[in-house]
Amino acid sequence: MITTTSMKTHGCGEITKNETGKTVTIAGWVSAVRDLGGIIFVEVRDRSGFFQLVSDPQKNPEVYDIFQKLRDEYVIKATGVVSIRPEETYNDKLPTGEIEIYPSSIEILSTAQVLPFPLNSDDVSEDIRLKYRYLDLRQDKVLNNLKLRHKIVTTIRNYLNNHNFMEVETPILIKTTPEGARDYLVPSRVQPGKFYALPQSPQIFKQLLMVGGIERYYQIAKCFRDEDLRADRQPEFTQVDMEMSFVNQQDIMNTVEGLLREVFKLVGYNTPEKLPVITYKEAMDKYGSDRPDLRFGLELFDIGDIIMESNFEIIKDTLKAGGIVRAIKIPGIANYSRKEMDDLTKLAVSYGAKALANIMYLEDGSAKSPVLKFLTEEQAERIKQRGNAKAGDVIFFVADKPKTTYDVMGRFRLYFGERLGLIDPDAHALLWVVDFPMFEFSEEDNRYVSVHHPFTMPNLEDINKMETDPANCRSIAYDIVYNGTELGGGSVRIHSSDIQQRVFKALGLSDEEIKEKFGFMINAFKYGTPPHAGLALGLDRVVAMLAKTNSIRDVIAFPKNSAAKCLMTEAPAMATEEQLRELHLRLTTKVN
Ligand code: AMO
Ligand code: AMP
Repeated sequence: MITTTSMKTHGCGEITKNETGKTVTIAGWVSAVRDLGGIIFVEVRDRSGFFQLVSDPQKNPEVYDIFQKLRDEYVIKATGVVSIRPEETYNDKLPTGEIEIYPSSIEILSTAQVLPFPLNSDDVSEDIRLKYRYLDLRQDKVLNNLKLRHKIVTTIRNYLNNHNFMEVETPILIKTTPEGARDYLVPSRVQPGKFYALPQSPQIFKQLLMVGGIERYYQIAKCFRDEDLRADRQPEFTQVDMEMSFVNQQDIMNTVEGLLREVFKLVGYNTPEKLPVITYKEAMDKYGSDRPDLRFGLELFDIGDIIMESNFEIIKDTLKAGGIVRAIKIPGIANYSRKEMDDLTKLAVSYGAKALANIMYLEDGSAKSPVLKFLTEEQAERIKQRGNAKAGDVIFFVADKPKTTYDVMGRFRLYFGERLGLIDPDAHALLWVVDFPMFEFSEEDNRYVSVHHPFTMPNLEDINKMETDPANCRSIAYDIVYNGTELGGGSVRIHSSDIQQRVFKALGLSDEEIKEKFGFMINAFKYGTPPHAGLALGLDRVVAMLAKTNSIRDVIAFPKNSAAKCLMTEAPAMATEEQLRELHLRLTTKVN
């Protein structure tokens, strides 16, 4: 398709040799000016690509005069006949590298100051790029990411539309959503002292759409969460949010697999017919993470039984108090220096471990370790066998509370995956993690909280554990994971008010709290609720993974920095006294 407007006949990158001899008009930004003493070459850029203009004072002095005025990033419009370049000046880096125009007319539509940073240079700080994001968008990298994002969204919409999903918008000014992050609040002017919350997700509304009979819903939805930011977390981000009625977990998985198959095809990856499925328990036990990166091995293993037979009292005490011990074999590093080993301990401590134990299996067949004094030779040998270790390898282990142990060992595994170059950058590991726990104990709140959200259906085999053994009650919740990143998550929802009440009770909510927070939802479920389930993909993460960038900021047109600030508009900003008064607010902290 050719981009034609009243001001241009073609996009710069759309002109081909077929247009040779034809008159065309292009318009765009000057991306380079080369004055070769007499003849001036100008490269013009627009969204579609680049095109070369040439001016020769002998041929057209009026046009040449204007060419002399051109500077980088001026916006110009030029008309002329497409001609073939002399062969020795072909530029094989550009699709339009064999053609050019000697314009018959040229017009400067807008001049430009010198940019605050050079385009397409690698050493410009992200802060500067974000401050002038509108200029950053002119660079190939960001522009290409946005083009990819657009293609992915188009593919997603097409797929879901073709599968009978209906796109429905849900409100932004709402009551709180139970996703577990902190809400962004919006004060109400007309109702003094009251606040809207911005949705952490459309969760409640999509379930109510199911009660309303929509059956298959999706939305490319903006979500807002006030949480600690990381490279893969923004305060506002986009979900591909979906919900279906009369389905089970497998139906959702099939739909999402079909959708992702189309999306991954865009970057040339054919996903397997059926994606691997592993349980949460297996993911934690083997990889120390509920979003395991399966592009490499280095699986964790349990040596608790061997330790319990040993004299390793300090770890035995940890195990007796409900802790666990997990080990990992790292191949071929028994030659590490004392300092390198000390640095690894420091690394594990920075991940939250109290200590890191190691056993080095030396080339001469002996074992070397500060912990051999706690183990018999036979116990040390069994540890070696369990880890399949051979001469030259090192086994590390950590004992602590389960959460800490998994977290430290999971991160330690990823660290060595990278350090030893075990991760093939072209590999794809897309999988499901299922059977998430229903509840986790929150030290902060001193009660059980939902791992997913309180509308998630408990696993029917475990339902009676809700009251007696909440820690071991599984839910029907699932995550889709790609190369160690959680791309999306969802669950089968509760559609019986009896089970819902029991879940709220298990979460320690009083009748008043339940009524206050979710009364409207429970009420809605009294009028005929279909069984339903859903999932939301983090769109920014999907695009970032396919664009092979670590930061979702690279695939968002106007992202915030890690302090949740927009460096371009300088939001958040102060409100005036007048605005605060209208909103019935007074600041208690003095701010500058
Ligand atoms: P969940 O909270 O798992 O589920 O979110 C779904 C997906 O959204 C992405 N995501 C984020 N992306 C960028 N920045 C953030 N701050 C951020 N937080 C989450 C992740 C995540 O997998 N309502 C449920 C879904 C459901 O049950 O249907 C929900 O929001 O990729
Ligand atoms: P020492 O302090 O010399 O008696 O030895 C204690 C050894 O046990 C050190 O090598 C520690 O790294 C190791 N160790 C102690 N506690 C733990 C733990 N929780 N996890 C792993 N190793 C531990």
